[in-house]
Amino acid sequence: MSEATPTATRVAGVALEHPLLNAAGTAKSLDDVARLARSPVAAVTLGSITKAARDGNAGEVYASRGTYAVNALGMPNRGADFYRDVLPEMAGVTHEAGKPLVVSVAGFSPEENGELAHLAAEGGCDLVELNLGCPNVWDDGEQKRIMSFDPELVAASLRAAAGAGVPVGVKLSPLSDPVLLGEVAAAAAGAGVRFVVSCNTFPNGLALRPDGRAAVDVGYGGVSGAAMKPVVLGQVSQLRALLPEAVDVVGCGGVRSGQDVRDLLAVGAVATGLATAFWDAGEDPGVFADVLADWLD
Ligand SMILES: Cc1cc2nc3c(=O)[nH]c(=O)nc-3n(C[C@H](O)[C@H](O)[C@H](O)COP(=O)(O)O)c2cc1C
Repeated sequence: MSEATPTATRVAGVALEHPLLNAAGTAKSLDDVARLARSPVAAVTLGSITKAARDGNAGEVYASRGTYAVNALGMPNRGADFYRDVLPEMAGVTHEAGKPLVVSVAGFSPEENGELAHLAAEGGCDLVELNLGCPNVWDDGEQKRIMSFDPELVAASLRAAAGAGVPVGVKLSPLSDPVLLGEVAAAAAGAGVRFVVSCNTFPNGLALRPDGRAAVDVGYGGVSGAAMKPVVLGQVSQLRALLPEAVDVVGCGGVRSGQDVRDLLAVGAVATGLATAFWDAGEDPGVFADVLADWLD
């Protein structure tokens, strides 16, 4: 890790050279991780990874409209057995670049979250992010429960991940009911959460093609991008007030400029992630250099 600079920050005690990360959903393979490790991101986020390999949803899965995007990728990834083998190499590549590795895991039960958190830590990562907010998992025509709307499932997932050996955080959906947000924050804090990432996409948005058909083939998808910025600023600001001081907040949603980073830091985030701007740039890691330069300007 390089010496601390004026831009340095920490997430759950893990040092970062500056506060800009790739958000989950932007790296799944060793090549992706290596490419991001060479980019200016302060840490590389891998995943989300699930216990079984997933193809993801079929057909059109991403529709960008400039000020927002709707996606229903459905967390394509190669599953726990693959990552168990390749994670040490991913951690090695990232650490050689002087950066921490964050692994985003998405179990379909608290027990699976615990198993995957332990697997990620054993693979050499520095932080584990429990993705409790993916809205895009459809199996046999049924949409799976989004765990971050249930304080019990949030706490049970953290308890199952306890003892993994690295700090564990949760990534939440945007929660529009302030009372529920308070209950979820209290449940997470009570179960030992070290950081909270806010937020995942807004569930079940609908983008249309000019002929009125859904732009994403499964129909609904998670809303992300610039239109989410006021939502995310509100979530981060509320979470900062609700959580104990020792629990860090990472802000994620609509970051595409230095001002977006400044605004999230101003309301209490210690770091920020971006996904949509990266996808909209054709998955070009140059977007991180641009946002960082704009922030430092
Ligand atoms: C195409 C795409 C795929 C995503 N996949 C994941 C994922 O696998 N796990 C996760 O926690 N979040 C995932 N997200 C959510 C992002 O990490 C982020 O929380 C959200 O999109 C808001 O940030 P943004 O406006 O910068 O995209 C995905 C987002 C997009 C656009």
